[in-house]
Amino acid sequence: MTVGNEWVPALLHWFDEAKRDLPWRANHPRDPYHVWVSEIMLQQTRTETVKEYFLRWMAAFPTISALAQAPEEAVLKLWQGLGYYSRARNLHKAAREIVLRHQGEFPNTLEAVRALPGIGDYTAGAILSMAFGSPVPAVDGNLLRVMARLFGISDDILSLKGKRTIGRIAQTSIPQDRPGDFNEALMDLGATICIPRAPRCEACPLNDFCTAFRENRTGELPVRRKKKAPTIYEVTSLFIRKEGALLLHKRPETGLLASLWELPTFLGKTEKESRKKAEQMLGNFEGKILWTHRHVFTHQIWQITVYLGAIPRSLPDSSYEWVDEGALGTLPLCGPAEKCLSACLPGAILTR
Ligand code: ADE
Repeated sequence: MTVGNEWVPALLHWFDEAKRDLPWRANHPRDPYHVWVSEIMLQQTRTETVKEYFLRWMAAFPTISALAQAPEEAVLKLWQGLGYYSRARNLHKAAREIVLRHQGEFPNTLEAVRALPGIGDYTAGAILSMAFGSPVPAVDGNLLRVMARLFGISDDILSLKGKRTIGRIAQTSIPQDRPGDFNEALMDLGATICIPRAPRCEACPLNDFCTAFRENRTGELPVRRKKKAPTIYEVTSLFIRKEGALLLHKRPETGLLASLWELPTFLGKTEKESRKKAEQMLGNFEGKILWTHRHVFTHQIWQITVYLGAIPRSLPDSSYEWVDEGALGTLPLCGPAEKCLSACLPGAILTR
């Protein structure tokens, strides 16, 4: 396949006219800290949601050293509701490393940026191109989809081969004078026009150059392998109050929702199994249902039933605590707990 670059000026011209106005794009030149935080937030979260979180984050931690000095609970609290909390933990850890190893200045080489926790090839490419003007592509799902259609690539875009092929084309196409704009233009095009289903090809600045459009293959491209089906759990959670306090459990330091607080929660393949575990740990309860919810994680689905529990004679271990209801806003709660408490404790302040 011969790859011409005539499409690049058309893309950049479109970006100049149509680029989205987003809070992390406000500074010129772009601040690497702003690019970094926004890219991490945007990894699993919609742009509209990220806008507000980004502004609150920058108000709370305006610099890398402010972030490095913050206690972990404050960082997790600000992240509450965004999910995938390892992202927040890695931002915090990386800020501390930047203070220790780079005098608080964001590093500007691929090697040093890639060495920071939570920064993979995509994020490194985004930061280096947007904040430092280095010609490094930021290969994410958007770029893979747009390029697969543009060049008619029928390799699975999630396979190593597909990523390599497209990464190579991106590397030869990225313009030396506007690498950051090239990457962001592809993100905006992927988010607004070259969308996964029913792309808006009539409005696309690249339709003259696009193989999938010309060959009527936008429905087939990109090719992606089927995801593994998630594991489904039947989950029993207990809502137990005692004298203005609520029984909560702090999750282990590793794994899903690490170190976050939840209602006492028990997983099983069946409802019977998870109820039995709950009763073994915290005693029998009547079975009054307060709330039900289906929570979808990347590889798991929790079908949650929250029961009104009885006050246990003693707590199983120190990961269980009675938390004053007035103090709920100071703890990082996991998503299902926050949703359940908004429904079952109306008026409680869950965020600071
Ligand atoms: N999605 C991921 N990164 C983005 C960015 N910098 N601008 C817009 N959308 C994005």
